[in-house]
Amino acid sequence: MDASKKDYTKISWLVASIGIIINILYFSYELIFFRSVFTKHFVSVFVEHVVIILLIPLFIVVGLLVGNVYSLKKELEKRSINLEETVKQRTRELEESNKLKDLYADILTHDVLNPLGSVSTAVELKLEDEPGDEDMLIAKRNITRAVELIENANRYSKLVAKDDVELEKVDLGEVLDEVLNDYSPLAMEKNIRIKYKGGRGFTAMGNALLKDVFSNLLSNALKYSHMNTEIAVNIVNGEGAWKVEVADRGEGIKDEDKEKIFERFKRVEKGGVKGTGLGLAIVKKALDLQKGRVWVEDNPGGGSVFTVELSKA
Ligand SMILES: Nc1ncnc2c1ncn2[C@@H]1O[C@H](COP(=O)(O)OP(=O)(O)OP(=O)(O)O)[C@@H](O)[C@H]1O
Ligand SMILES: [Mg+2]
Repeated sequence: MDASKKDYTKISWLVASIGIIINILYFSYELIFFRSVFTKHFVSVFVEHVVIILLIPLFIVVGLLVGNVYSLKKELEKRSINLEETVKQRTRELEESNKLKDLYADILTHDVLNPLGSVSTAVELKLEDEPGDEDMLIAKRNITRAVELIENANRYSKLVAKDDVELEKVDLGEVLDEVLNDYSPLAMEKNIRIKYKGGRGFTAMGNALLKDVFSNLLSNALKYSHMNTEIAVNIVNGEGAWKVEVADRGEGIKDEDKEKIFERFKRVEKGGVKGTGLGLAIVKKALDLQKGRVWVEDNPGGGSVFTVELSKA
């Protein structure tokens, strides 16, 4: 029997016994002195004795009840102490794992990323001499992928830790020009034409994170599009908000995957195209922080249209 159950039994018996003892004492008093305290004033002797006898089970019930309440209280106290201990233990474990995570991120950023940079330079020099060297091309692809992975993981873990960011006036036209410029070599490699009118004055409330947003969308549009196709980038003048659409002619995204792909590490295998599955999670979190939205729809005639919506400044 555990401790609180024992206490419960003891207390039940104690309360019931006190009641019964009072009863016996009162009976004894009546027998010894041939007089009753209550009968004189209120009731007959018969009623009084019936009440006194009925009081015995009542005392037992009250005893059980008091014992129950006491043991319940003890049990709750014990559970809350256990809970406190568990919370403390989990907090300690979390602090430990956070320290480990920081250490891991530090190692990746400083001890892996920097040497990778040197290897990448060496590979590029070798490729300048022999542009068709198959081994070097494979090495370059893998280095690029490793660097992308580390940078994306870093970017995502920093973003996730943020609750808000400062918003300022940002011209979407300027950000898009920069991003399209960065991606034009890749577009040329796949012979993909990027249709974009450009311009200025599309001022939204945003943040420097917008460059990451459009970079990821452009990177995906190029990665998941076939050679010799077209990507259309449009800024649509909405009511109180700008909408930036990035439309490609790739394989498109199934309806059941349209929300899933914005979760971290959620990838949908597409003809062996490699990725970390963090790009769209970064886009989503960056837009949440800027009070914006992103969604994907089918492109009529094939492919996908990613739309980013941001409040006008
Ligand atoms: N334009 C697109 N067309 C078709 N599928 C897409 C497109 N953009 C994203 N996807 C799908 O959504 C998934 C998630 O995209 P996300 O950008 O998050 O990850 P990723 O591209 O696989 O990796 P990375 O972290 O390197 O960007 C991709 O695996 C792909 O299947
Ligand atoms: Mg991506």
